[in-house]
Amino acid sequence: RKKVTIGTLRAMYKRGEPITMITAHDFPSAHVADAAGMDIILVGDSLAMVAMGMEDTSEVLLEEMIVHCRSVARGSKSSFIIGDLPMGSYEIAPAQALESAIRYIKEGRAHGVKLEGGKEMAPTIEKIATAGIPVLGHVGLTPQRMNSLGGFRVQGKTSSGAMKVLEDALAVQEAGCFAVVLEAVPAEVAALITQKLSIPTIGIGAGNGCSGQVLVQIDMTGNYPPGRFIPKFVKRYGDVWSESFKAIETYRDEVKSRQFPAPEYTYPIAKEELEVFTE
Ligand code: KIV
Ligand code: NA
Repeated sequence: RKKVTIGTLRAMYKRGEPITMITAHDFPSAHVADAAGMDIILVGDSLAMVAMGMEDTSEVLLEEMIVHCRSVARGSKSSFIIGDLPMGSYEIAPAQALESAIRYIKEGRAHGVKLEGGKEMAPTIEKIATAGIPVLGHVGLTPQRMNSLGGFRVQGKTSSGAMKVLEDALAVQEAGCFAVVLEAVPAEVAALITQKLSIPTIGIGAGNGCSGQVLVQIDMTGNYPPGRFIPKFVKRYGDVWSESFKAIETYRDEVKSRQFPAPEYTYPIAKEELEVFTE
């Protein structure tokens, strides 16, 4: 597979080919996503929850995101890699945001960055984009602001709410984003926003009318224990947790019963050598 570049993504958008995006957080999760032909791999700050076990995304540090991103970069040959700027690494000033973005490229080996927010982030997006770093926008539900949004809520459910999501999407486009994530907005609203924009929209919980889709890998592969809360928009394509569980459980039983390791998993020694050794 050829390397996916900003040009590849633009060409897909022009010919109406949906853009595929998935998260990854380490070498194996990146390797499998790349091998399966994902156009974009996002090192999302959702890794705070799904890979680090944190309560929400506010705790994860830029340094930690960069370590994960570097592992992802080693695992991916062709996908376009986006590093998610975590809370606290870009809101203070455009210069702070650019510094964080540069670290993602240099230390994390990402090809671009993502940041949450609409109109108010325009100067920040412009600062990063004009430095030659592709910026992916993120409007609608912005999980880093869950405390002021009052939790993980659908956005753009009212006419004024929908107008705000549209204005934010237009603003980040104007500021120089190469694409924008629309999270948790009604399908009709996301479809109309997609029509009005001239950059691709990547939907998550935003219906089928977007230019592409993104899901959190751990969620969509079912790599989480039973009982964990999963948003309505996640389709579970696999049951990785149960597969791993069964494998480890069987291993445990076989060790306890001395079935493992059977002779085929052991190294031989020549009979003469063994005789000398055992004397
Ligand atoms: O952190 C993340 O995984 C994300 C995607 C859900 C868009 O931001
Ligand atoms: Na995120």
